[in-house]
Amino acid sequence: MLEEEYNPRRRVPRRPRPSSVPPLEEEFRYELRAATERDIPYLLEIYNHYVANSTVTFDEDPLTLKEMREKFRLVAKLGYPWIVAVSPSGQVLGYSYVTPWKAKAAYRFTVENSIYLGPATTGKGLGTALMAATLEQAKAAGIKEVVAVIADRGAEASIKLHERFGFRQIGHMGKVGFKFDRWLGTVLMQRSLK
Ligand SMILES: CC(C)(COP(=O)(O)OP(=O)(O)OC[C@H]1O[C@@H](n2cnc3c(N)ncnc32)[C@H](O)[C@@H]1OP(=O)(O)O)[C@@H](O)C(=O)NCCC(=O)NCCS
Repeated sequence: MLEEEYNPRRRVPRRPRPSSVPPLEEEFRYELRAATERDIPYLLEIYNHYVANSTVTFDEDPLTLKEMREKFRLVAKLGYPWIVAVSPSGQVLGYSYVTPWKAKAAYRFTVENSIYLGPATTGKGLGTALMAATLEQAKAAGIKEVVAVIADRGAEASIKLHERFGFRQIGHMGKVGFKFDRWLGTVLMQRSLK
């Protein structure tokens, strides 16, 4: 007698078959609102992710809470937009704001814009929504020109996003930054709000 006749084979329970109907993609829901001081730690967390892991920002050391707060207060004092996207549960998903392009007085109608989404929320149209709201509010605040300074490597999504909003490339500075052991340049893009 074969051994298996004494020890009948164990029946392996059937795995549930994959359903032919794919699960419904969960809808990506968020709302935009003005950022508040309470958001600052979350803004910092998002930004510092890119400091540590990417060349989209040329900062190499994490920003401190104090530095982020100072930036936030300057923007608030000037009446410029700083907008956050939040999930239905209130989690900060990303943000966008503008700061003065330069301190000298004649530059007062020109700003630089910045936009950062949490790594899990990119590529879903959120950048588009934040950019639209930021430009609209910047215009309402009297801004006439917006300049974007974008890394020339690793920031393809940002360049695409700015192009979509009518930013035109107005310059390219090569090898002005050095991060992660390589030289980096910046692409300058500009959009008029007049
Ligand atoms: C840049 C950023 C704000 C864009 O926002 P987003 O929500 O990811 O972009 P959207 O889904 O709204 O898409 C905007 C455009 O970028 C394109 N895009 C998105 N992700 C991309 C990627 N990884 N590579 C190339 N293009 C990309 C989209 O196809 C779309 O182009 P289209 O208008 O021609 O279709 C976001 O990706 C981000 O926060 N990235 C990391 C931080 C960063 O780079 N900040 C900017 C610093 S200058």
